[in-house]
Amino acid sequence: MSNVGRAKRKIRAVIAGSRVPEDPRHADNTLEWLLRLEPDAGDALQLAALAHDIDRAIEETKVRRADFDDYDAFKAAHARNGAEILRPILNACGVAGNIVDEACHLVEVHEVGGDPRSDLLKDADSISYFDVNLSLYYQREGWAETKRRSLWGYRRLSARARKIVENINYGEEAMSRMLHEIIYDKSAE
Ligand SMILES: [Fe+2]
Repeated sequence: MSNVGRAKRKIRAVIAGSRVPEDPRHADNTLEWLLRLEPDAGDALQLAALAHDIDRAIEETKVRRADFDDYDAFKAAHARNGAEILRPILNACGVAGNIVDEACHLVEVHEVGGDPRSDLLKDADSISYFDVNLSLYYQREGWAETKRRSLWGYRRLSARARKIVENINYGEEAMSRMLHEIIYDKSAE
């Protein structure tokens, strides 16, 4: 197995330990969406897609929402801590230094994007939230918080990614209604 293959296996093993039930599925689903958006995505992007939320998998150092007044500040700290966790994992697997640096940078900026590659990761992550996280998030957090989180996620999608999210079919009536409210929320413009 290649160094990058070993690193992917290690990242999956760490995320399997997350207490957030949707995390393992979301990690692989983000990688799947990345490859649908960009079939030629390289190793750094693929590693970052799998690992972008690795912060949430380690209870002792996990960044906590309750410690932040501001949601964006919380998300930035979450991304920074994820990059710090990822770096030694990639180094231990013998991944090339330039790929380590790029993957960690991508994790660090995955919530905000800002260049073509991090924008791709941000889109894949945001689509995946709507694809696999929404329903479990709603069961745990309730309507109001899920609507707030979903509006935040919808606003950060590119036009291309919005089209994909708008065509997601939910089996549950409540989730279809949530998506409809998000798409047609005038304050989103
Ligand atoms: Fe994510």
